[in-house]
Amino acid sequence: MALKDDVLSALGKVSSPDGTALPATRKLSDIVASDGKVFLSITVDAGAVEQWEPVRERAEAAIRAVPGVTSVMVALTAERSAGAGSGAVPPRRPASGPPRQGPHQGPAPGGHAAPRPAGIPGVEAIIAVASGKGGVGKSTTAVNLALGLRDLGLKVGILDADIYGPSMPKLLGIRERPQTIGGNRLKPIERHGMPVMSIGFLIEEETPMIWRGPMVMSALTQMLREVEWGTLDVMVVDMPPGTGDAQLTMAQQVPLKGAVIVSTPQDLALLDARRGIAMFRRVNVPVLGIVENMSTFVCPHCGGRSDIFGHGGARHEAERLGVPFLGEVPLDIAIREKSDAGLPVVASAPDSEHAKIYRDIAARVREGLAGAGKPAPKIVIEA
Ligand SMILES: Nc1ncnc2c1ncn2[C@@H]1O[C@H](COP(=O)(O)OP(=O)(O)OP(=O)(O)O)[C@@H](O)[C@H]1O
Ligand SMILES: [Mg+2]
Repeated sequence: MALKDDVLSALGKVSSPDGTALPATRKLSDIVASDGKVFLSITVDAGAVEQWEPVRERAEAAIRAVPGVTSVMVALTAERSAGAGSGAVPPRRPASGPPRQGPHQGPAPGGHAAPRPAGIPGVEAIIAVASGKGGVGKSTTAVNLALGLRDLGLKVGILDADIYGPSMPKLLGIRERPQTIGGNRLKPIERHGMPVMSIGFLIEEETPMIWRGPMVMSALTQMLREVEWGTLDVMVVDMPPGTGDAQLTMAQQVPLKGAVIVSTPQDLALLDARRGIAMFRRVNVPVLGIVENMSTFVCPHCGGRSDIFGHGGARHEAERLGVPFLGEVPLDIAIREKSDAGLPVVASAPDSEHAKIYRDIAARVREGLAGAGKPAPKIVIEA
């Protein structure tokens, strides 16, 4: 609390373009201050971003000078434009950081033909692991897929973009905090030869995550662009569940080369998966395929197989929608136990049947990426 107050009083000495002290402008988000790391965003009109950029820089400098602050991220975010339809988030980019983030700024009509955000220097391909529905095993798939791609000889990184419920600290057993380089760049944590970044490294697990929309985007942009990712063939992004505005904005803001959709075999989950596919298509991100997770259940005692959530639904759905089917991962207690213990199965049991399944999925994803530049067949989906 004390740190937050010190930050606020430091911001009191920074003036906005019209001379008002920053806290009095009512443009500041909540200040998130934890363990010396401070985040906040300033919401301004899209047209006023240039005037505000020096203010943002002064705010960062002022906060950095507060005793106890080890790193700071202040982002400028643009207001949603008046008249934007409720379903489509204007493809604004959070104007944080220097203008190297690419030319795309300010609202574009509709949200369909948004210009692609600029890539991350040194990162060849960014892929999203997504699902329409929560709890279907997206994070488990993301981490094991990343390890599978690593086993194919690729240099892989993991970005946990699930700001509301980050999983990577637990799934990879990470308790340490990222180091800061030169004041405002972060060094990702290394696990199993992969750089990993998650908002969960910066904020206590118990901290309730209350984010305003602009903060979500600024935190994500910072994790993408202000982290020393190095050279990567593939960055695997674990997305938050759902297909609402936040996910759509993310799908637009992150320069994605493709998306992997995770679904369980039930009809309801498949309906959500279909919405997920429609969302990525809407923003012109190729869908690399569907993974059926929690497919057949193999009883650990008797070896008997049962299809608790059904079986084969995702394969059928993939065929119907004209997207590749990437594989089936059984519902197996070993996967859950290993995940929860921070030991993903591909790393902790590389010779197991499960690890092989994930590596096969990874190989199909790699194939899909090789063809991701080609135009996708036109298929109409009713979501
Ligand atoms: N194939 C599987 N077999 C057994 N347990 C699994 C399997 N896949 C995932 N789980 C378990 O299911 C739970 C949810 O998985 P996970 O956290 O990966 O889902 P998620 O889709 O990322 O969830 P959220 O929507 O909350 O982000 C975890 O406890 C995980 O260990
Ligand atoms: Mg998750």
